[in-house]
Amino acid sequence: MESSRFIDICFLVFCASLVIPTRSHSYSHAALFIFGDSLYDVGNNNYLKNALARVNIKPYGQTFFKYPTGRASDGRLIPDFIAEFAKLPLIPPYLQPGNRQFINGVNFASGGAGALVETNQRRVIDLKTQLRNFKNIEKQLREKVGVAEVKTLLSKAVYIFSIGSNDYYVPFATNSTVLQSYSQEEVVKMVIGNITTVIQEIYKIGGRKFGLSKLTPLGCDPALRALKLATTGGSGCMDEANMQAKLHNIALPEVLKELESNLKGFKYSIFDCYTTTDERLNKPSKYGFKEVKMACCGSGPYRGSFTCGLKGYQLCDNVSEYLYFDAVHPTEKANYQFAKLMWKGSTEVVKPYNLKTLFEM
Ligand SMILES: *[C@@H]1O[C@H](CO)[C@@H](O)[C@H](O)[C@H]1NC(C)=O
Ligand SMILES: *[C@@H]1O[C@H](CO)[C@@H](O)[C@H](O)[C@H]1NC(C)=O
Ligand SMILES: *[C@@H]1O[C@H](CO)[C@@H](O)[C@H](O)[C@H]1NC(C)=O
Repeated sequence: MESSRFIDICFLVFCASLVIPTRSHSYSHAALFIFGDSLYDVGNNNYLKNALARVNIKPYGQTFFKYPTGRASDGRLIPDFIAEFAKLPLIPPYLQPGNRQFINGVNFASGGAGALVETNQRRVIDLKTQLRNFKNIEKQLREKVGVAEVKTLLSKAVYIFSIGSNDYYVPFATNSTVLQSYSQEEVVKMVIGNITTVIQEIYKIGGRKFGLSKLTPLGCDPALRALKLATTGGSGCMDEANMQAKLHNIALPEVLKELESNLKGFKYSIFDCYTTTDERLNKPSKYGFKEVKMACCGSGPYRGSFTCGLKGYQLCDNVSEYLYFDAVHPTEKANYQFAKLMWKGSTEVVKPYNLKTLFEM
């Protein structure tokens, strides 16, 4: 309750002053709307009370911005690179005071968020609330620039999502009762069901082009390697978490295919982040990495404890040798590699369209 009330208040205070163009525009670029979790959150959680994950502390942001911005990495995130490739400016967070750039898109993502409202409840902006925030923007636009203009803007726009990891095996963060009382398959069904609902709602308002990602091998995050070591004494990835990701990754493309055949004009892109991460875990040097098991920033085994920026943390000397910046988040270098593949990768990693094709449609 508390944080959602805060978001409402914040909306009134900060966002009601959005400058909205009153003349017709011919939108030469497709806008970029961003939904999801910490992999895509560029600062929304900075404005939440009780945020589960707040990363606007040093050394986050050290590589590119030179100061912490609320991005969970040393530098830029995937949406930053996608915006750059699409010749858009950086897309600002929805909650940023004075955010006026929403003709180019808005970022609604929130670190720790899941597709299920129960996931890290009250400490994140869940996907349903992100959708509500999107509808707020859409309504304001409609009132100012008119129905037809907004429809064009929304149908040209690309909607990208990073969502699901937090609904599954993140035992130190989430205390979702959902996970405990349902089978793995049932949870996957609910997660995919809720993602589908959000996509359908955006489609109803006029959205046509959707970019999604499979989940990474979650069990190979430094955090889960450390957890496995602590609970079983064994090294390597946590297989249960990878199994869960695989179940999700089988179900997601199926539902997107179904949407494509049921919804006229619906187009999508799905990026295989599982395989691409796996390749880097197996052949680090091929991709310019030296360390893919241990995080650059954190403490304990694999630096898998979430202490980056807090008392007693360790920081690596050369972040560009690392795949993971902290216990679960990739470095800017890894984000750049992923974003490039999403943008113009072949159908081996991104299909049926890559994002470049979606933007140009
Ligand atoms: C999870 O819930 C249990 C019991 O409901 C509680 O004891 C525990 O502290 C909670 N853990 C977290 C991380 O919130
Ligand atoms: C969405 O998630 C909730 C749990 O948060 C679940 O009860 C509901 O069935 C899910 N919706 C769909 C369409 O799967
Ligand atoms: C940091 O690591 C990268 C990638 O391995 C390497 O190219 C670069 O020379 C290193 N920089 C320093 C200062 O060692």
